Amino acid sequence: MTSDDRVNGSAQALVDLLPPGSRVDGGRLVIGGRFASELADEFGTPALIIDETALRARARRYAHGLAARWPNSGVVWASKSLPCTAIYRVMGEEGLGVDVAGGGELVMALAGGVDPARLVLHGNAKTDRELSMALEAGVATIVIDNLDDVARLERLATREQGVLIRVIPDVATATHQAIATGHQNSKFGLAVPEARALVERLRGSDRLRLDGLHVHIGSQILDVAPFARAVEAVAALGEFDVYDLGGGLGARYTYDDHPPSIEDYLDAITGAARRFLPAHSRLLIEPGRSMIAETGVTLYRVVSVKRGASRTFVAVDGGMGDNLEVSLYGQRFEATVADRVGGGDSYTVVGRHCESGDQLIESVPLREPAVGDVLVVAVTGAYCLTMANNYNGALRPPIVLVDSGEARLAVRRETYEDLLRRDA
Ligand code: LLP
Repeated sequence: MTSDDRVNGSAQALVDLLPPGSRVDGGRLVIGGRFASELADEFGTPALIIDETALRARARRYAHGLAARWPNSGVVWASKSLPCTAIYRVMGEEGLGVDVAGGGELVMALAGGVDPARLVLHGNAKTDRELSMALEAGVATIVIDNLDDVARLERLATREQGVLIRVIPDVATATHQAIATGHQNSKFGLAVPEARALVERLRGSDRLRLDGLHVHIGSQILDVAPFARAVEAVAALGEFDVYDLGGGLGARYTYDDHPPSIEDYLDAITGAARRFLPAHSRLLIEPGRSMIAETGVTLYRVVSVKRGASRTFVAVDGGMGDNLEVSLYGQRFEATVADRVGGGDSYTVVGRHCESGDQLIESVPLREPAVGDVLVVAVTGAYCLTMANNYNGALRPPIVLVDSGEARLAVRRETYEDLLRRDA
């Protein structure tokens, strides 16, 4: 262990990864005003805990930060990061727009009371049914990914519908290739020449009102420069009323990550907008991960501690059933024992699933982890529960919102009956 590693494993370093207001009290972790281990006792494990106070604060930081820099603007939360009715409600209450990718997220957004006038529909394979649902609900903006979207919408729309064209900006990003989307040959959107031709075509459409352009270069991006380059790339298509610049700002998952702040990111995109876009245009952004990742933690229970040939395994009661980030993208997480925060020896945290790839964290400092302890994995608010699955009959975890000492169940844990419920 280097001295950096020791600092990294410290209680303060861990707390710095957690939602603001998290603290250590007598060696025990407190999140949202509640002891993490007590939340585990009350709601069981694994469980996703979202600090609602922190989430609302981030929503406001984004909205005020963007409005201060570019008044004609809007923040549209990318709901794929944590599609859950209660979270849609929170975002709607905060006045944000919401991006829905397909019919399922649309249903949840509407159930969460989000005004359809603030909805943006995405997807590279939107079906007739999904487009009809969106048209019927009055979704304000549909983002056109391909010419089949246009054909479908011209057939299905009975009144004027606002649309944006998704453009491939041909911008490289240093992120995992599975979540990069700004490159040539991306499956999302149209390259500039095709987009230009479609602009001309839509100018003649009597049903589809072309409001502007959309661009999204990828996710977990830790440098602001490519966002600015994407603005320059779409500006080449001419002047429009609306530019939706997508999401993509990275979250701070590990002690060694230093992503740009929300403000750095907003400075970069509005700076580029001032250089390249018309001053009267409306700017939209679609943050997902950077909105919610850092407001969430996952609580697990330690089931076994076992010495291997060269490492000691801490096996927990979840794993790739509730967190695919590690196996899909090699994402690193940090963790602590809930009631003994900071320091300790290095352990490998593994899940309960039947494959060696089901490893949550390689080499993480933990203080005397023992069977029955609650383990807290930090920064799991985004995409973890989104992609939760039933591998090995795992029951998808509950989502619990904590708010200044109050905890409420937003989504219950799946039950064994649920696993049988769809049998025909
Ligand atoms: N807008 C569009 C059109 C998107 O496709 C996405 C993410 C976002 C906004 C939000 O991006 P964010 O701010 O969250 O980076 N399953 C992957 C993440 C895929 C992201 C897909 N699109 C994961 O678990 O990391």
